[in-house]
Amino acid sequence: MSSNSSAQSPVKSTGLHIGDAAPGVAKVDPIIIADNVTRTFGGLKAVDVDHLEVPRGAITALIGPNGAGKTTLFNLLTGFDKPDTGTWTFDGKRLNGVPAFRVARMGQVRTFQLTKALGLLTVLENMKLGAQKQTGENMFSSLIKPLWTKQESEIEERAMEILARFKLDTKKDDFAASLSGGQRKLLEMARALMSSPKLVMLDEPMAGVNPALTQSLLDHILNLKQEGMSVLFVEHDMHMVRHIADWVIVMAEGRVVAEGDPHTVMEDPAVIDAYLGSHQDVDLGVVTGRISGEKTAEAEELLAEIDAEVGLTDSAAYSADPEKNEDTK
Ligand SMILES: Nc1ncnc2c1ncn2[C@@H]1O[C@H](COP(=O)(O)OP(=O)(O)OP(=O)(O)O)[C@@H](O)[C@H]1O
Ligand SMILES: [Mg+2]
Repeated sequence: MSSNSSAQSPVKSTGLHIGDAAPGVAKVDPIIIADNVTRTFGGLKAVDVDHLEVPRGAITALIGPNGAGKTTLFNLLTGFDKPDTGTWTFDGKRLNGVPAFRVARMGQVRTFQLTKALGLLTVLENMKLGAQKQTGENMFSSLIKPLWTKQESEIEERAMEILARFKLDTKKDDFAASLSGGQRKLLEMARALMSSPKLVMLDEPMAGVNPALTQSLLDHILNLKQEGMSVLFVEHDMHMVRHIADWVIVMAEGRVVAEGDPHTVMEDPAVIDAYLGSHQDVDLGVVTGRISGEKTAEAEELLAEIDAEVGLTDSAAYSADPEKNEDTK
């Protein structure tokens, strides 16, 4: 869709919650409702979420320091891991014990922190794998060749349409392994769209992506919402969160410690605590350097500390990891 949507501030969804914005606050129209979800590794409670609702039709950011349990929560909600306790629904349907492939079929798809594009398949083949309900998978209908080939060509058409949107159409016959890190992230997102999902969950979509590609990734995420999808994304880049998120959920040590609109949340002492320890008087957006504002000496100091300890994956942290720097455009 419009590639210049990033020029203006995106239209934010408001009125998403009922009552005071606090951890576990009810949403007007939740697409996910989770209760008492826990996951322990050894002695460590990686996820310990009492109650959580994810709003429908909005872009929700899940933030928190390294090890907060964000990816583990993604894994649980999408059936890639099993919780010790807990129940949750997606779009009104209970999802406990539902395997990942079926969760995806129900309309809840996710991407991974480390991209899972299959390197030895071509870009187009990767896309076709993302398609759902293929007639060819059904034993009976696979015997009827015309039906199968018709659907095959429809799938290919749809794949090429989405690839074009992501500017990957000219690479359709390239092996996914030959793409840059950022292009693989785009391919993963494009592949997720093949199933016409209701909820798209993105685990650090910007990590390892060259700054030149981040704007187009932002646009793609905003477009998902415009097309009626709900988005839940994990991100360390506070500028991005502030720019595109309608709602922010903050995790620390497995728990949800704060929720609210981006502006309020990023000035919440509990959030600043979770990220920055006791330095409560510094605006997190300013600290990360992506929000214009006066950066105090204390903020500069914290920025260095965060880069070192929290491992921010935004443009400022690029040169630290050459493997994550392989984008060409
Ligand atoms: N398979 C596993 N086995 C043992 N411990 C694990 C496993 N997966 C995650 N953990 C631990 O659970 C905690 C939460 O990890 P998780 O990856 O969910 O954090 P995160 O919020 O996604 O962090 P990051 O921002 O670094 O991606 C961490 O302490 C991590 O070491
Ligand atoms: Mg993670």
